[in-house]
Amino acid sequence: MHASELLPHLKQRASLASRVLRTRVGRGPDGGDPIERFHRLYYESEVFGGTWRSTYWMGVPIWKCPFDLWVYQEIINELNPDLIIETGTAWGGSALFLASVLDLLGHGSVLSIDLWPRSPRPRHPRIRYLQGSSTDPLVFAEASRAAATAGDTPTVVVLLDSDHRCEHVIEELRLYGALVSPGSYLVVEDTNINGHPVAPEFGPGPMEAVDLFLSEQALFAVDRDREKFGLTLNPGGFLKRIP
Ligand SMILES: C[S@@+](CC[C@H](N)C(=O)[O-])C[C@H]1O[C@@H](n2cnc3c(N)ncnc32)[C@H](O)[C@@H]1O
Repeated sequence: MHASELLPHLKQRASLASRVLRTRVGRGPDGGDPIERFHRLYYESEVFGGTWRSTYWMGVPIWKCPFDLWVYQEIINELNPDLIIETGTAWGGSALFLASVLDLLGHGSVLSIDLWPRSPRPRHPRIRYLQGSSTDPLVFAEASRAAATAGDTPTVVVLLDSDHRCEHVIEELRLYGALVSPGSYLVVEDTNINGHPVAPEFGPGPMEAVDLFLSEQALFAVDRDREKFGLTLNPGGFLKRIP
């Protein structure tokens, strides 16, 4: 991080830490709906290295909420997908989780894309990694090829978890939405940021991209049933393609 960015960064972390502490003792702006309060507490406790920052699948960091992972397991079991495309690999914990569920079904593979993947990433026979920006034409062409060759009429699930800025996510939605098979899912992760209800300072993000995407086409609809546990980091982000 550049020295000029350090002070604003430290100020932001200090304000986040103070918000978390106030939520913990039940004071401050976080009163009201207990689910929202827990959501903030869960998400923002990462400032102390907690919750999603210290969650692992088989020892590999995975930046997700276990409730959402359980829902992914249910979706995968229902659809028995031929291919899961994930944008945003990070340490590879989510790719490994998806591959482990596919292992239990004995079918399917994972294509995980990242511009700056961490090292080492887990090796697994069902996982293929691709390095580059998810919206790079060559990367998308490779993902399209993988989707087209995954089976006769392949079932494809897409999870978007890379750059969360609205302009990037809307581009991903327009591109990768076309690869999702009828009846399958296009999951937009971290729709909770930009104040829905966490990280209010983020600016337009995944939720705003989803709103735009839904206004542009009628192939996808939000499946609120996938939010049944109350806490999800992807509110309004489970998009189901009409069968
Ligand atoms: C939230 S992390 C992914 C977390 C991972 N899916 C998990 O659950 O453990 C976001 C990742 O997106 C990557 N990223 C950022 N911009 C990207 C882009 N334009 N294309 C692909 N990946 C990108 C970052 O390098 C980072 O590793």
